Amino acid sequence: MDAWWVILVSLCVGYLMTAIFKHRSPLSTAKRSIPPGPTHIPIISSILWLRKSFSELEPILRTLRAKYGPIITLRIGSHPYIFISDRSLAHRALIHHASVFSHRPKDIPTGIFFNNNQLNISSTSYGPTWRTLRRNLTSEMLHPSRVISFSGTRRWVLQTLLTRLKSDSQSNPSVLVIDHFRYAMFCLLVFMCFGETPDDATIADIERVQRQVLVGYNRFSILGFWPTVTRVLFRKRWQEFLGLKKDKEDVLLPLVRAMKQKQKQKQKQTTSNYDAVSYVDTLLDLQLPEEKRKLDEVEVMTLCSEFLDGGTDTTSTALQWIMANLVKYPHAQERLMEEIRQVVGEREEREVKEDDLHKLSYLKAVVLEGLRRHPPGHFVLPHVVSEDVVLNDYLVPKNGTVNFMVAEMGVDPKVWEDPLAFKPERFLSDEGFDITGTKEIKMMPFGVGRRICPGYNLALLHLEYFVANLVLNFEWKVPEGRDVDLSEKQEFTVVMKNPLHVHISPRI
Ligand code: HEM
Repeated sequence: MDAWWVILVSLCVGYLMTAIFKHRSPLSTAKRSIPPGPTHIPIISSILWLRKSFSELEPILRTLRAKYGPIITLRIGSHPYIFISDRSLAHRALIHHASVFSHRPKDIPTGIFFNNNQLNISSTSYGPTWRTLRRNLTSEMLHPSRVISFSGTRRWVLQTLLTRLKSDSQSNPSVLVIDHFRYAMFCLLVFMCFGETPDDATIADIERVQRQVLVGYNRFSILGFWPTVTRVLFRKRWQEFLGLKKDKEDVLLPLVRAMKQKQKQKQKQTTSNYDAVSYVDTLLDLQLPEEKRKLDEVEVMTLCSEFLDGGTDTTSTALQWIMANLVKYPHAQERLMEEIRQVVGEREEREVKEDDLHKLSYLKAVVLEGLRRHPPGHFVLPHVVSEDVVLNDYLVPKNGTVNFMVAEMGVDPKVWEDPLAFKPERFLSDEGFDITGTKEIKMMPFGVGRRICPGYNLALLHLEYFVANLVLNFEWKVPEGRDVDLSEKQEFTVVMKNPLHVHISPRI
């Protein structure tokens, strides 16, 4: 009797295990087809897709979605590029299959050359080096205790921004704000990166070299295909590309070297100053786990450049979109001002302090609504899968590139009522909104899963602090004869096609 019982239980367990593992084994993926997509015509299809920017691709993908469903394949050469527009599929990929979906594609040769062999957080493949670089950023720079240590810098940058806006508004009834926002974000991130208050000319230089690379980068991607030939065919462009790289090194490397020198001097003194630690300081101390060596100065510079790109263009783009909506919808601006008034009271200094931010729930709702309606990136950075995996009954093949349609998810009518309207109130109802999407994805402006933007808390702090203080200090109105046009344009981020012009008057 006992023996039969053991045999029966063993058979059941065996059957169960087979059923579970069958689902995951290569055999179960072997019979699946890759997600559907438009017919692939060799060479011609590849050329067609390669010529398109992400902004041109987005409406095409929307049309294809109606025909093929929420997971679509475009093929470039023999390589599949898979796009996912459905929130729950994105959740399954990025949370349930997190380790499989967390790799990055190999950069094209120009990218590898420019990004110093892909040694930065965003393009390093998932593994020990990525983990070390990312952990250094999150625990050394983005840990709450370190973020607080920069509150004086944020205050200084805010005062600079308010002074510049005030002086511009005195001579100009219609102020173009994006340049001021960008400059402010550069001041902030440059300080965090290099630990110093650089002079205006240096900040302008850093902004110039960083932006010329970001905005012009797509022009050079052709040099990455068949480089030996394209370097000859597009000789002038290649020279321009080398010039950009040199220009950037000429501006950033001296700053890295200066910090290195300072660190040496500091080591000679015995006292250490915790507050003054900058991103460069942390990078100069870092040891690469696989190669067991420290970073050289060009590698430090590459990581600094990524830090500046990550935190400046994205945040200033989001700030412009949020302020544009507050100008277009004055009732939202008025409601926000009322909430701020109640918290700030009759205080003498006109400042919403960082400590006040947790009391401002409508402010948080305004920022989230801005990110939902106008995520600075309509896609995340490309992910690559490290093994065959089945998603929605389709095979996502090993090494396939996968991306997610962030902007589409933010306007999914199944989650968002009246999705195209700017209604911050929608974020007021529950106990708090989980932007990380760990339990469920409702929107993903910072990505989701292991590659989620490590700077999302810092970005939210910057947005809340600046939006609150801009509204406390000025009344923002549409200038006479102008309108707020919310049309979009793809640069590095998705920006306002017609940048925001405002009439600013100081609130007394
Ligand atoms: C509104 C502001 C920001 C937005 C909308 C944003 C958005 C994103 C998105 C969508 C990704 C890609 C996620 C993926 O591939 O799945 C990303 C990655 C990244 N972001 Fe941000 N970001 C912002 C601010 C920042 C800030 C302030 C920093 C740093 C100071 C930063 C540093 C990074 C880095 C290093 C990565 C690469 C992460 C990795 O590959 O592991 N970002 N960000």
